[in-house]
Amino acid sequence: MRKCVVALLFWVCMALPASAAKTYTEPYLLSLKPSSEMSVCWLLGEPGDEAWVEFGESEALGETARAELFEVKGIRTSATLEGYDDDPAKNPELAVYQRIATLTNLKPGAAYHYRVMTKSAGKVSEGKRYFFKTAPEAGKPFSFVLLSDLQQKKQILDTVGMAGRENADFIIYAGDFQNTPWKASEWFPVENCFIKPEEKGKEWFTAMQQTEGGARLLQYLPLFPCPGNHEADDQRIWTNKDMAKDPAKKTLSIYMQLFRPLYPEQEYRRNGKHWYSADYGDLHIISLSIFRWHPWDGYEAPGWFLFDDISPESPQVKWLEKDLKQKSSPLTWVVQHWHMLNRGAEVWIPMSEPLISPVNPEMAVYPYGDHCWNVLRPLYEKHGVNAVNFGHSHVYERYLINGVNYIEAATIGNNYREEKDPLHFSGNAPVVENNRHRSFMLVSVVDGKMEGRGIRASVDGDGGVKVGEVFDVFAMSR
Ligand SMILES: [Fe+2]
Ligand SMILES: [Fe+2]
Repeated sequence: MRKCVVALLFWVCMALPASAAKTYTEPYLLSLKPSSEMSVCWLLGEPGDEAWVEFGESEALGETARAELFEVKGIRTSATLEGYDDDPAKNPELAVYQRIATLTNLKPGAAYHYRVMTKSAGKVSEGKRYFFKTAPEAGKPFSFVLLSDLQQKKQILDTVGMAGRENADFIIYAGDFQNTPWKASEWFPVENCFIKPEEKGKEWFTAMQQTEGGARLLQYLPLFPCPGNHEADDQRIWTNKDMAKDPAKKTLSIYMQLFRPLYPEQEYRRNGKHWYSADYGDLHIISLSIFRWHPWDGYEAPGWFLFDDISPESPQVKWLEKDLKQKSSPLTWVVQHWHMLNRGAEVWIPMSEPLISPVNPEMAVYPYGDHCWNVLRPLYEKHGVNAVNFGHSHVYERYLINGVNYIEAATIGNNYREEKDPLHFSGNAPVVENNRHRSFMLVSVVDGKMEGRGIRASVDGDGGVKVGEVFDVFAMSR
């Protein structure tokens, strides 16, 4: 009898609802080998006892993968309920734990059902059921959406929700997740932590994990991100000239930890390995780390430095050349945060290391020229890259130069286009430009042909186009 009571208590405890573990996010999916492996990640407020993922090709699940535990360092709650202190160190660090279960030996082109299980204080919390698809074999169709620059902007919930209802297979995200990566309440809701009233409910994970109206986002679709200027740990490196010159301040640790399976080396310092590539069906995806941002004039000392170097002999460009030579997929996509081309004055400041002028210490000079244009573009053309997409200006612009499509489909929450912004310094004008309304891009690959569609997502602006209307269709096959 006593044995029966103990057994009953055990099963009652095992079946306790999800409230038993303090979770910050639903699961999200990352993979460098999406045809055979998938890492299921989730964030918690406590380490818990253990965690695992139950998964399988049918709803009966049947297989189990143990989840490793990591502590995510550097995320902070607000110093007071009225706001964050500008100095990150003056805000208390928030305990954030990450569980990662990597499911291996998966079949290509198959759907897997799964749920995360978290045991804390002896109680097991059962996560909601989701599913994902592994990347298909060569020749099979698939589609993906382009997102970027959410940054708690006004329109993001509508735009991202629409993108999530496109039945796509994965997401490419071109950087700028929130505004300040150490601020906890910009990633997910946190009790007793300041958040601007207008940004409540627009935390990055909240927007990217919404399920209303059948939206399927991070819980269902693997994410292939790249870092943007808003991913630098201490945002003061962009605005404070002394900090801009301090190498110790230039780290990229919170982003790298949150997306750990894509960055197994976990090198946080400038010029550490902040790039990767992955094959998805017929597509080779390359994610780079290219960004900068400064409020002062680019020719004023210390100039505008890039976070990671892209000079010809830099570790990133050497890796890129090798990766492009080794790839075997017929289609190639590059995602990088900084715009290769853009109608905007900031692309006129050359993308290379600034030096202090030898004739005037108040001035910066750029003797190495523009590495985006002179180093990356020839590589993209030589190795048959189909498309390069980026963010940062929050505009919709599409260029076609020597067979390479350059796309900024980043009017997801707002835009920064001024009517009189100049053309790119090369004189190239966009093939299509549309900043009158919010949009996102859907890309489909069918029979080896890649096609992009700009889809209108919100009703502000010109009012002459319907939400959901495709306003731009173009082929990207070479
Ligand atoms: Fe941005
Ligand atoms: Fe940016």
